[in-house]
Amino acid sequence: MPRLLAKVIVIDPQNIDAAALEPVAQGLKAGQLAAFPTETVYGLGADAFNPLAVAAIFATKQRPMTDPVIVHIADMSDIAAVTDMPWEDLPPNALKLAQKFWPGPLTMVLPRGKRVPLVVTAGKDTVAVRMPSHPVARALIRMAGTPLAAPSANRFGHISPTTAQHVADDLGARVAWIVDGGPSQVGVESTIVDVMTSPPTLLRPGGVSAEDLEEVLGEKLARPDRFAVQVHEAAPAPGMLLSHYAPEAKLLVFYHKNIEQAWRAALREIAAQAKISRRVGALAPQEYFQQALAAGAAEAALFGAAADSALAAQALYAGLRALDKAHVALIVTAIGQTNGIGLALQDRLWRAAGGIMLDAKNED
Ligand code: TXA
Ligand code: MG
Repeated sequence: MPRLLAKVIVIDPQNIDAAALEPVAQGLKAGQLAAFPTETVYGLGADAFNPLAVAAIFATKQRPMTDPVIVHIADMSDIAAVTDMPWEDLPPNALKLAQKFWPGPLTMVLPRGKRVPLVVTAGKDTVAVRMPSHPVARALIRMAGTPLAAPSANRFGHISPTTAQHVADDLGARVAWIVDGGPSQVGVESTIVDVMTSPPTLLRPGGVSAEDLEEVLGEKLARPDRFAVQVHEAAPAPGMLLSHYAPEAKLLVFYHKNIEQAWRAALREIAAQAKISRRVGALAPQEYFQQALAAGAAEAALFGAAADSALAAQALYAGLRALDKAHVALIVTAIGQTNGIGLALQDRLWRAAGGIMLDAKNED
């Protein structure tokens, strides 16, 4: 892989400088890769209709070709090119969800149009489609004149990036362009729903809550039993592989539906580890930040607020990355309620911890 240093283009989402973005759009048209901001995480984009450009995404991320990527569109009229049907002909559930949640952190699995190369979908007849709400992402898609295939812009299996700096840390020597549009506001990936099943299936919890989707659909989503997914088993959706989103340090996640109980167990663990001289990092919400340091954590990163899962989601990946940079041996954190975006938090932490969550129930 030739080493190149990404050109970083800073774009204000509130006042998009089209002239500054133009060379990136031209690069994408010519088959280059560009990392760009979305409201969930940064994506590593390529022209979705150019198989060689999409193949370069896999090489750059060192991602297995069996893991399909999401196609990003800017407007409903783009649906026709990726599914071979006008958007008005989408399945009724897809239409309902698109009307309510697009643009935004929702990805829908739809029939694959002929122009979408198989490298995008890992050979499947379906394609995952998302319309991001980030103004810079949508401007770039429109200017490139083509939908963008884009996974998260991190090394495969590593923590997803929520800032341009995170992208540069992981892939700075491997992509032509990094568009810096500021930190991602949602902080965890989009929710993925297969709308071709009845009822629709929740493939990955994310930025749109399952409750909100179910309210619009008027029925419960089908949910694959994630605890049946084994590390060595072929996963139903490749993103369900364990040890996704993983930091370098070992991660311990305490869980209890009552967050206070979960943090009591986490604080005890921090104290016990510090006592045997392990360098512990705490991923702690503001309510427990000082207590984590007092218990003996060598480093602490802010994990939003215990009472606000949306703030926690925003801070999750940056916090894990900061603790890795501080070279801790162990990261300790805790989570509580798993409603709303809390389900995505639980899912990402569970995967980052290699499929292990510690039940804080019997710790008292
Ligand atoms: O928020 C997001 O979705 C971010 C930003 C950049 O848009 N993207 C993202 O992409 O998280 P990635 O590659 O990290 O996750 C893509 C996942 C795959 O791992 C797979 O689980 C699912 O999307 N996927 C893609 N195509 C699919 C398909 N045809 N059927 C089922 N699942 C699919
Ligand atoms: Mg990813």
